[in-house]
Formats: sequence, C-alpha cells, structure tokens
Amino acid sequence: MSGLPKTSQRRADLLARLKLISENDLRIDDPRAMVYVFRENAAASTLGEEVLRQFCWNNALDARAFPSALVLEREVVAIAAGHLSGDAQVCGNFTSGGTESIILAVKAARDRARVRGVSAPEMILPQSAHPAFHKAAQLLGLRVISVPVDGQQLTADVPAIAAAINAQTALIVGSAPSYAHGVLDPIDALGELAIAHDLPLHVDACIGGFVLPLFEALGQTIAPFDFRVPGVSSISIDFHKYAGTPLGASVVLYREPALRRHQIFSFSGWPGYALVNPTLQSSRSAGPLAATWAMLHSLGRPGYLAIAQRLLDGQQTLLRGLARIDGVRVLGNPVITLCAITSEIVNVFALAEQMRKRGWRMHPQFPCGDAPASIHLNVLPVNSAAIPIFLDDLERCVSTLAAAGEPPVSGAFASLAETLTAVAPDQLADGPLERIIDELIASGEIGDGEMTALNNLLSALPAELRDRLLTIYSDRISR
Ligand SMILES: Cc1ncc(COP(=O)(O)O)c(C=O)c1O
Repeated sequence: MSGLPKTSQRRADLLARLKLISENDLRIDDPRAMVYVFRENAAASTLGEEVLRQFCWNNALDARAFPSALVLEREVVAIAAGHLSGDAQVCGNFTSGGTESIILAVKAARDRARVRGVSAPEMILPQSAHPAFHKAAQLLGLRVISVPVDGQQLTADVPAIAAAINAQTALIVGSAPSYAHGVLDPIDALGELAIAHDLPLHVDACIGGFVLPLFEALGQTIAPFDFRVPGVSSISIDFHKYAGTPLGASVVLYREPALRRHQIFSFSGWPGYALVNPTLQSSRSAGPLAATWAMLHSLGRPGYLAIAQRLLDGQQTLLRGLARIDGVRVLGNPVITLCAITSEIVNVFALAEQMRKRGWRMHPQFPCGDAPASIHLNVLPVNSAAIPIFLDDLERCVSTLAAAGEPPVSGAFASLAETLTAVAPDQLADGPLERIIDELIASGEIGDGEMTALNNLLSALPAELRDRLLTIYSDRISR
C-alpha cells in the first residue's frame, strides 16, 4: 500500500495523470452514449458547474452555520413538489440520489408501521422495482415480497399485489416508470389499494418524475402518477437524471409531514453536538443542491420544455425506427425516453457487443420473470440527434449477427457453466467462486473484453448465484 505520496506533486503533472487515468471513461459529449449522460450542452450546465464549485465547501449538515442550504433545499423541494402536483402540505428533502431517496422513504414507512405495532415489516414490490428497494430492505430489515409483473405490459400486477397484503405490510411501491422497460405502473389502482388498506404507497419517479409532466405539457397522454393520485404518499424524483444537473441530486417528497417525520434521525445522547440528520448523509456538500437550484432557475419551464421536446422527438424517432427493424421488438409500452429491446432472431448480448464495437454504450439486461433478456435504450440530450445513426447501426448489426448464427460457446465458459449449475447455489462456497472470477479476470474474459459469453452464462444462473458472483467480482476489482 502506497500511503501518502512522498513528495508534493506539480499541478500540471497531476492534471496530466488524471487525463490519462480517465482516458477510457465514457465521454459526456459522446452522442453514442445511451446511458448515464444527462447533461445538456447549455449555458445552464456551465452555470451549474460554477455554482457546484462555489458551494462545494458548504456543509448542508448545519443550517445555523450554512443557512443558505436550508433556503436552497426548501426552494428545490417546492419546485419538485409543484412539478408533481403537490399541495402546500407536501414536504421533503434533497438527497444524494435516487437510492438515498428510496431508502429514506422505506425507512419512513417502516417506522410508521412500527408505531402501529408491525413487528416484522414487509414491503410489496413489483418485480420491476429498482434494486434500491431491495438494498433498503437489506439495510432496514424489511422482508421483500416480490410480485411478478403483468406478462405482456411488464407493469405492476395490482390483484397480485392486493393478494400479498397482510398485517405486516409496511409499504407498497409503484414505478413511474420502471428503469428496465420504461413502463408506467397503474399508480391510480395502487393508490386505491393503499387507501383501502391504510398503507403508504411510494412512487419511484426517480427517472420519470422530471420528464413525465413535461411530456404531458407537450400533449402526450400520461396516466396520472403523482400527488394527483389519491393514496400516493411519497415520491422520489431525481434531478441528476433528466433535469441534467451535476450528480448527487434527488428529492424525496411526502404528501404529509407526519410520514416524513419518521425519516429524520436526531441524536443528542453523546458528549458532542446535537446531531440532526433528515437524510442518510450527515456532513454533505451543498454543492449539488446549489447547482440544482441554479440550473432549475436558469432553464426554467421554457428551457426544460424545449429540452423535453427534443427528447420526445428523439424517442418517437427511436420507436418508429425500431418498429421497422426486423428481428427486434420493444418490450411493453414505454412512456418516456427509455425502452428495452429484445430479439427472437439474434442474441441480445452479442448485439450489445456489436453495437459497442461501433461506439454505442448501452446496458444489456438479464431475463427476469416473463421479461426476456434485453438491451436498455435511453434517449438523452447528448444522443437525441443521433438516433437515426443508431437505428442504421442497429439494423446492420442485427443482420450481420442473424447471418452469422449463434457463436459457439468457448470451452472455458462451457466448463464454468457446468461447475456453476452442477451444485445448488447454497452448496457453492465463496472460495471456488473467487477462483473462477480471478481466472476470468486474468484471462481478460471479463472487464473491457467481449462480454457475450459471460452475459449468456450469468443470465442462465439463478439470480442469487449471479449476485454472489457479481459481489465477489466487485470485491476483487477494487483491491
Ligand atoms: C426508476 C429508478 N429508481 C431508482 C434509481 C436509482 O437512482 P440512483 O442511481 O440515482 O441512486 C434509478 C436509477 O436509474 C431509476 O431509474
């Protein structure tokens, strides 16, 4: 281990090294990015970056020391609440991202349930819910009841959720829309269920919450998903997605302060200062908050509507183009700028690799329940004008792969598959799994290389075993 650098290094050298280290990073101006990059190339983004820097040393932990953080947070929360049709009662907090917003909403629901005598709280999730809910359940000790989604629409199956409700239920969840397929759960029906059983309903609008009301304003028909729906008790909405702000920007909203109160942690029974944390982080930079505030005001409704129109045009071009390509099919009925495609004639993991060779960065997705393996597509400000090129590339890759037929499975992967499927997952110890991962890393079979064989293998494994392998992989590469 290196310890602190032995000498002080020159600024120019450090910047040069950083440039080198980040050489292979996804470029935020790359029109072939179909994931992660939500930045709009606009003056507002530059302003956001400047403000981020200006406020990065301000600690939003302490409103007495940095009262500006409270002012900015209240204003950003009010913008989010108004955007999602909340009334004056709606309250919330600025958080570091969708995952934190979700964990907080789950904590609030769990503690509400505890007060009502629930001893072993459960959360009912459509299978399409974001993994952040499972993470929250692990951290907060809730049991997850995962309910398969409708086989065709891939949206929450309300009767199945109703059937899963019992005396231990602390929370039900819907997505607006789901990340994997971009489909909108029937929030109104979930709201009715929540009211009938006196349960909180959290709507995960992390990815859709910002853009859906804008699409509605542009004339799209969007089923109500926000505080207009009776029974919706909390909503998560991320600004670092389609509002294009620097990373670390989300809001969790509550219809009523009584529920939000369960989210707040205060502790003064120690010899130090009285600690009050409304969110998970304690010390937290006010930078992303101030940057979000500045960008929201700078672009305002007209600026964001213009961006939304470009995104909508991109999405419509994408969906029309996909419908014309033989051999690919869009899953469900996506409502915003995300969708997933599958194929009955080519291997989607191989397709994602072929597209990657042409520079396109997209997420391959494993099969789950009735949803087949797919590729996730995201229309983003950076790629909305490049969709026709994407469609041409996709069509070419599909025909090349269809002509080539299924590639043979390499010996290494065939024997690996045999090892992994021969024994029940709980009989496999970490040691052999770790050796398998190490061999794959050493052989260059995973990481930057061709991922098709690995994805084929992983998609055939039970999810728990896959998760163990991914955990070991994450541990190995970070050492
Ligand atoms: C629907 C949905 N929920 C939650 C999250 C988690 O957000 P974050 O990555 O900001 O933690 C995402 C991220 O893509 C998402 O799409």
